[in-house]
Amino acid sequence: MSSQKNQKTETEKIPKRSLRVLSGTKPTGENLHLGNYFGALRQFVALQEEHDTALYFIADYHAMTSVKNGAVRRRNTFSVALDYLAAGLDPDRAILFRQSDLPEVCELTWILTTITPMGMLERAHAYKAAMDKGEDIEHGVFTYPVLMAADILLYGSHLVPVGKDQKQHIEMARDMAQRFNRVYETDALVLPEAFILEDTATVPGTDGQKMSKSYGNTIPMFGAKGKLKKSVMGIVTDSTPVEEPKDTNQAVFDLWSLFASPSEREEMFARAAAGGLGYGEVKKDLLARIMDYFEPMRVRRAEFEDKPDEVEAILRAGAARARELAKPVLEACREAAGIGVPQR
Ligand code: TRP
Repeated sequence: MSSQKNQKTETEKIPKRSLRVLSGTKPTGENLHLGNYFGALRQFVALQEEHDTALYFIADYHAMTSVKNGAVRRRNTFSVALDYLAAGLDPDRAILFRQSDLPEVCELTWILTTITPMGMLERAHAYKAAMDKGEDIEHGVFTYPVLMAADILLYGSHLVPVGKDQKQHIEMARDMAQRFNRVYETDALVLPEAFILEDTATVPGTDGQKMSKSYGNTIPMFGAKGKLKKSVMGIVTDSTPVEEPKDTNQAVFDLWSLFASPSEREEMFARAAAGGLGYGEVKKDLLARIMDYFEPMRVRRAEFEDKPDEVEAILRAGAARARELAKPVLEACREAAGIGVPQR
């Protein structure tokens, strides 16, 4: 019997197209940057084509641990919806929704808290980091991984595309699913797997470290040209004079390469090796390429921004579809745990 249970949750036995993909973005009001796009969003777009069911949501409940203003939260949530749509997430291919439109996720969170050891949550990187800094944290920060597990498990997700920093959270979700299934002798919950987006590490920021809001080294996707120019011109380079050969192992060349074809790259790197190429020229060209590349998305974003009712309708329709997936899972959990009116 138990081998049958395992079979159901082993993702390799399921045809790729049928694997359910899910990911979420916390609406913190930060503007999207190149690292977010090349590290995550671009893959979200590809995955909606490769899988029959892809769910992408805006984690507004999660943002409650940091943002403490309702109007700001609404604005940030709308902003992530615009980013999703601008980047090419397509409501006909993916289920786009707002986390809080399914408060069922809070019920599953409670259910999961009752099988989650304190020790597991105490080992969470984010919690430990906050404790190490001596922050006076709220219970929500401690329980954050349980809510995140509920996000994943509620929809029977198999694959969760995330950056490396979220890997531990997915492992915890898997552990919670396993525990619940074991404690209540059920196969109600699918064991999810992290789909680690390796690219995240390869987008350097203007200082050469990984591009991240917390390092203040980002280049925005949709920023005004002036702001964009300022960050591109601020990319740190070595001080090799123009006429001398350049080391192409620098952020400016890595970033430029994201927007160039292999043959353009070869040509540019040959010029760098020959000497006579100035960093100013590379940066100016990079700026022009960034503007061009994101222009269609910028236009699409502006169009949706003018039609908030349409965006709202997309999110509501997404929530209705998400609910269809959530309903049998939550019912199976309630049934297994003996909660509510018996189903049979
Ligand atoms: N914690 C994630 C982040 O900060 C956001 C998130 C919330 C999420 N729920 C999720 C990501 C479920 C993947 C799956 O990036």
